[in-house]
Amino acid sequence: MRQAYFDNAATTYPKPEAVYREMDRFAREVGGSAGRSGHRRAVEAGRIVYAAREAAARLLNVGDPLRVVFTKNATEALNLAIWGLVRPGDHVVTTSIEHNSVMRPLVAAGSVGVEHSVVRCAPDGGLEPSDLEAALRPETTLVIITHASNVAGTILPLADVADIARRRGLRLLVDAAQTAGRLPLDMDPGGLDLIAFTGHKELFGPQGTGGLFVGEGVELVPLCYGGTGSHSTDFEQPREVPDRYESGTLNAMGLAGLGAGARFIAEAGLDGIRRHELELLGRLLEGLRSIRGVATYGPLEPEARVAIVPITVEGKSPPELAESLDTRYGIATRAGLHCSPAAHETLGTLETGALRISLSYMNTADEVDYLVESLREIVTSR
Ligand SMILES: Cc1ncc(COP(=O)(O)O)c(C=O)c1O
Repeated sequence: MRQAYFDNAATTYPKPEAVYREMDRFAREVGGSAGRSGHRRAVEAGRIVYAAREAAARLLNVGDPLRVVFTKNATEALNLAIWGLVRPGDHVVTTSIEHNSVMRPLVAAGSVGVEHSVVRCAPDGGLEPSDLEAALRPETTLVIITHASNVAGTILPLADVADIARRRGLRLLVDAAQTAGRLPLDMDPGGLDLIAFTGHKELFGPQGTGGLFVGEGVELVPLCYGGTGSHSTDFEQPREVPDRYESGTLNAMGLAGLGAGARFIAEAGLDGIRRHELELLGRLLEGLRSIRGVATYGPLEPEARVAIVPITVEGKSPPELAESLDTRYGIATRAGLHCSPAAHETLGTLETGALRISLSYMNTADEVDYLVESLREIVTSR
């Protein structure tokens, strides 16, 4: 059966060839532990990890690769930032389209006296920056926004929010899980404080990789303490970044893949990636809108979103649709709430969930046409 993969917002597949190659090379030919020993295998592992830091820093457009802290995913990066910053009595402002990896730590932080407010986004996921500003209180210390919704694809006005945070002297944490490797993050001339990213989505790395950019002057309480291969006579956690936040052996094989993914993107260029994505997205939206009974959610204009489109179909549940696409056509999508009940509530799809179609740079126009025609068959064969 023909196969097509449209679950890239969960994790991208396939990866560029270089990603498989670099991970295979690491496993077979390198094999040492980065930053630990002095033999050539460990030194080479250290070099590969540093190259991944450099490639990630270039894509995030942050100057210093050493301020890119590697984690196992965006969730760990968001937890490191949130728990590392908030103190009892603090107030945090976020939006109504955040992922549970923001909402759950914030709710949990309620038990140690940290309050949060959720700014309501529009039904297409859009955020009005003045609404966010109106939610700030004298005790507010932190603003958290996703750069793009993992449900509706909506791109949030990051530059405006960064401007508000800077004017009001607040820390800004950006959840770039859906945008690192896909959209530029350099719209703030003052630089962003904290950027959480994941390696296994648009950066084309493997699962188990991610990171947090920690801006100059941002001090976090570590989430985890232990061996770093540095300052070993000292029982105190080192102060230097990234060691301070990277205890334990790194996933160097995964980071070999992440580095290769980030270099692949740099070569393709974010502009070229965006052009391809917009072309496919326009084709997908047009195709979906031509099928009777299909409702699409999120911004009408492709330029206002990344290539993620949630849909519902009259008379067919999202899980039924996902199963038909998978079993009859070999097409992978994802039904349900996508770990973002808040976003579904905002879109009006909390009760049913939605079928999420998410594209990556690796998809083709031909695959989009196959998806649209397969859906048309499913929807019309009632
Ligand atoms: C917007 C957003 N934030 C955070 C995450 C969590 O990413 P990870 O699974 O890499 O921890 C995701 C993943 O689905 C996401 O889409």
